[in-house]
Amino acid sequence: MSATPNALFTPVKLGALNLAHRVVLAPLTRCRNSIDNVPQDIAVEYYAQRASHGGLLISEATVISARAQGYPQTPGLFTAKQVAGWRKVTDAVHAKQGLIVTQLWHTGRVGHSGFTGVPGVAPSAIAIADGTKISTPKGTFDPEVPHALTVEEIAEVVEQYRNAAKLAREAGFDGIELHGANGYLIEQFLSPKSNIRTDQYGGSDENRARFLFEVVEAVLQEWPSARVGLRLSPAGVFGDVLHPTPLETFSPIIARLNQYKLAYLHLIDPRKQSELLPESGISQLIHTLSRLSTSPVIGADGFDRDTAAAAVKNGSFEAIAFGRHFIANPDLPLRLLLGTELNPYDRSSFYGGSEKGYTDYPFLTPEQTSIGLGNLIGNNTDRTAIPLSDKLAALEQESSSWKSASQLIAPALLL
Ligand SMILES: Cc1cc2nc3c(=O)[nH]c(=O)nc-3n(C[C@H](O)[C@H](O)[C@H](O)COP(=O)(O)O)c2cc1C
Repeated sequence: MSATPNALFTPVKLGALNLAHRVVLAPLTRCRNSIDNVPQDIAVEYYAQRASHGGLLISEATVISARAQGYPQTPGLFTAKQVAGWRKVTDAVHAKQGLIVTQLWHTGRVGHSGFTGVPGVAPSAIAIADGTKISTPKGTFDPEVPHALTVEEIAEVVEQYRNAAKLAREAGFDGIELHGANGYLIEQFLSPKSNIRTDQYGGSDENRARFLFEVVEAVLQEWPSARVGLRLSPAGVFGDVLHPTPLETFSPIIARLNQYKLAYLHLIDPRKQSELLPESGISQLIHTLSRLSTSPVIGADGFDRDTAAAAVKNGSFEAIAFGRHFIANPDLPLRLLLGTELNPYDRSSFYGGSEKGYTDYPFLTPEQTSIGLGNLIGNNTDRTAIPLSDKLAALEQESSSWKSASQLIAPALLL
């Protein structure tokens, strides 16, 4: 037996979250919830399909209030009906011994009167001006000038985060991830392009980070820090934000986050646009920021099997979040373990619609799984020649880290 374990298939602890492997489902908005932001049965199936033993799923971004919404049919965590909808999802994931955290979201100035009759909110009254269109139940519009939050209203939004965090517990999640990335409200505060306030929430890097830390402190009233993660996009420009000096802005944020001992920091590395470090394949900026974090770091954006395994192996990240590949491959962890082919994704069904492009992507057949396993351990690929149970037993003996791998394989073989 010559196979060395793929670095993605070793256990890791993200705070109190005990992962058996490092292939994480990235948060993915799919716009298939009810009009009142309740996950439907089809979402239960979608998440259950992607759950694996000891695998971490991050839910699609989930709005903390009606006014936080910026896209149609996204889920929420501010009503009892939404809690009940999510409870079915978390139960289904736990039945497969998976873990699931919810990504708490306020879209800020992406919000539109087409959702609630009033424009979205933001640190400053500056509309998105990058050509983005806002799709609402009433039609598609140009972004509106948002309402600039007063200090009192900021406190109300912070309270909505706390309330959603509490409801996340009632819904059975294993933790929460704060969405501080991709140009939404938290990042609108962080970026001087969208935040021109002159009070304690604007001006200096420290002031622009004040809202983020108030939100962190609020959710920590409901969850131990070892079950709270935060997603940031320090090189982000999506949503018409910009961080002119990202190292100066984000280094002190990460140093301060370290004091909270969060479960993880989740960094988006826009790898296609950046200068990549040859030895790690990730950008200099994200490499440097990731090194500053004393919490484990999840990396995301554009990873494949080899680059993900390399980034974990060289210590850049503790785990890798996969987006588009996980949309198209419900059994992505298994496929990455076995090195089998991936289904291609269909962009046209990313947002909205039915089960097409959502729950109908094919799994590996038991036959394909068996052949992949045979290839992986360098044994005879004939299913009958070596019983599968012997192959699994051999894998487990190879190294304790294979235990998590074989736990992944065993249920697939029982299909
Ligand atoms: C359809 C779709 C929906 C997304 N929704 C979210 C979201 O809700 N929250 C978030 O933080 N990122 C979201 N993203 C970004 C992904 O989490 C991920 O960072 C991105 O897809 C890059 O990773 P990939 O190359 O593995 O796909 C979304 C991406 C896609 C393609």
